[in-house]
Amino acid sequence: MRYHPRAVALGVAASLAASAAPLRGQVRVASPDGRNQVTVEVQGGKLTYSLTRDGRALFLPSLLGFEFRGAPPLRDGLRISDSTRQSHDEWWTQPWGEVARVRDHHNELAVAVEETAAPGRHFTLRVRAFDDGIGFRYEVPDQPGLGAFEITDELTEFALADNAKAWWIPSNWPRKDRSEELFQSSPMATLDSVQTPLTMELTDGRTFMVIHEADLEDYARMFLRGPRMEGRTLHAALAPWADGVKVRGHTPFATPWRTIQLADKVTDLAPSLLGLNLNPPNVLASTDWIHPMKYVGIWWGMHIGTMTWASGPKHGATTENAKRYIDFAAANGFGGVLVEGWNTGWDGDWIANRNAFSFTQAYPDYDLPAVAAYAHRKGVRLIVHNETSGGIQNYERQMDSAFTLYHSLGLDAIKTGYVTDTTGEGHSHYSQYMVRHYRRVLEAAARDGIMVDVHEPMHDTGERRTYPNMMSREGARGQEYNAWSGDGGNPPEHESILFFTRLLDGPMDFTPGIFDILRDRSTGHAQRLDEPRVRTTLAKQLALYVVIYSPLQMAADLPENYEHQPGFQFIRDVAVDWDTTRVIDGRIGDYVVVARRERGGQTWFLGAITDEQARTFDVPLSFLARGRRYVADIYADGPHASWVDNPLPVTITHRTVTAATRLRLVLAPGGGQAIRFRPAR
Ligand code: NOJ
Repeated sequence: MRYHPRAVALGVAASLAASAAPLRGQVRVASPDGRNQVTVEVQGGKLTYSLTRDGRALFLPSLLGFEFRGAPPLRDGLRISDSTRQSHDEWWTQPWGEVARVRDHHNELAVAVEETAAPGRHFTLRVRAFDDGIGFRYEVPDQPGLGAFEITDELTEFALADNAKAWWIPSNWPRKDRSEELFQSSPMATLDSVQTPLTMELTDGRTFMVIHEADLEDYARMFLRGPRMEGRTLHAALAPWADGVKVRGHTPFATPWRTIQLADKVTDLAPSLLGLNLNPPNVLASTDWIHPMKYVGIWWGMHIGTMTWASGPKHGATTENAKRYIDFAAANGFGGVLVEGWNTGWDGDWIANRNAFSFTQAYPDYDLPAVAAYAHRKGVRLIVHNETSGGIQNYERQMDSAFTLYHSLGLDAIKTGYVTDTTGEGHSHYSQYMVRHYRRVLEAAARDGIMVDVHEPMHDTGERRTYPNMMSREGARGQEYNAWSGDGGNPPEHESILFFTRLLDGPMDFTPGIFDILRDRSTGHAQRLDEPRVRTTLAKQLALYVVIYSPLQMAADLPENYEHQPGFQFIRDVAVDWDTTRVIDGRIGDYVVVARRERGGQTWFLGAITDEQARTFDVPLSFLARGRRYVADIYADGPHASWVDNPLPVTITHRTVTAATRLRLVLAPGGGQAIRFRPAR
């Protein structure tokens, strides 16, 4: 594991207070606004932390420590030997993001802890208290009693004071290792094993909390093991290597941050910036080659079965087809064209044949250099698809030469994929082995000026701050489930849960924009309600471009399905990079209304989505600049629209508005509304 001396370096406005309260059994740190207070203490030789907000207990004393293979646990006979404090207040700018400027304002407490008996090991618990939550991590210096180690369990607990309502997806290792699940909600005391970010609402509805992690560099991904009706304590659980060990390393090392985001209102949870503040700053020498963009792709056809990845009569990735997509992208101002199935290895069972994939050799009917040159002439770039099926070694063997090839062809983006439950070597998809792999891909890609979009990724822990070529990722049920899922597809509430759960950790390549909702145009027959299909209205597909943040945003449908569709204009117009994000209204699993201002411009966009209930919102446009007139281009659910049997009607209207206007938004069942506010001339 890499130790970050810079993480303790002081920022511009930081101040250092001298060593505080050594030898006391208890030390505290509060957020700059004084509301969030963390207490670290030793009781009966065990180290714990607890958290209050406005004096109210949120997390009761919760255990800290580790178990090792071949060494005693670091858990008992501990004492606090020293503690130091500092504070930090700094604004930094993201090269791209949900917001341009981020404030890192926190108070820090570093607690030196040691074993009172042999082997006398010592470590630091570093705690940062922000106004929007806390983070803490373990830092273990090089020392005689602790060099190389194997962690078998991290003992960190999250002992909740309240039986908060949680929105969760299960973690099922070793049966299945995936994040593509439908969310469920239940009191936290019922939880078994769940993934993070874990969003919870206190029973009085007055506080929202999200447990997650930040800066996962060379460690295992954290899950949470629940109390299963026995108490209210969640336990950190780490994804294993094939032999059951969780983390292998050598001192000095630092764990990822364990984070608890806090908000009074659910709408204050997003955009979530706590995790970004806990990641090291950008390490890339230049970021001007990194560019958020919209893209189309040879993709949906494979998912609905009209094309294949494999060679044959329905092969999607032909030179001719790629040129057609490139023409479409160029005509509509999109930056990228994804081409899947271009490389050899897809024939037969591609999930099982993980070592068959070549990342440089194209199928004979796809001329990669010619297609790349054609795209270049049209001002479009290819997004090169690299599906690995979990053949990690096969990919790593080829990765450098593949990236060099793409770079030499002027290509600057890849979409990777890891369709598998465990790696070829039997490690958990979320193990340290995979954490290392994903990081190696990011570093290698950065060397060749390549942006990365990961499917079947590790959950997002803020890597994009350090490597801004880490653009987007999947890591939840995306649009593809509406093409083939055995349960018929994502239910109408899905995206309004995602917004307050998965999307708090970072961008998602959800791939919105399916217009052929009933699939009758593509396949000749309308899907029945029990068959896989999109469970939204068309207007909601448009609203998703604003609601679901991604710097790479796909127009996922077949180009022919956008022909003669007035609603397509919104996809052409919508921005993908934001200066400001305001969540106007929302309730988890019910609805979301969000407004965002484009980066480097004055145009605002608004997206509103609802679950299966029709809803009306009265939205004050106070986010618009005062004294300015805007033209609002409004894409609303048309008369009698409903996701069930009438998803297509969209009513497009234009009206002049100001910051003083209140807009009435009427959303159909499973519907949405998308609006562009452009300054009036
Ligand atoms: C799953 C990905 O999510 C999808 O986008 C891709 O088309 C397939 N795997 C094939 O790689």
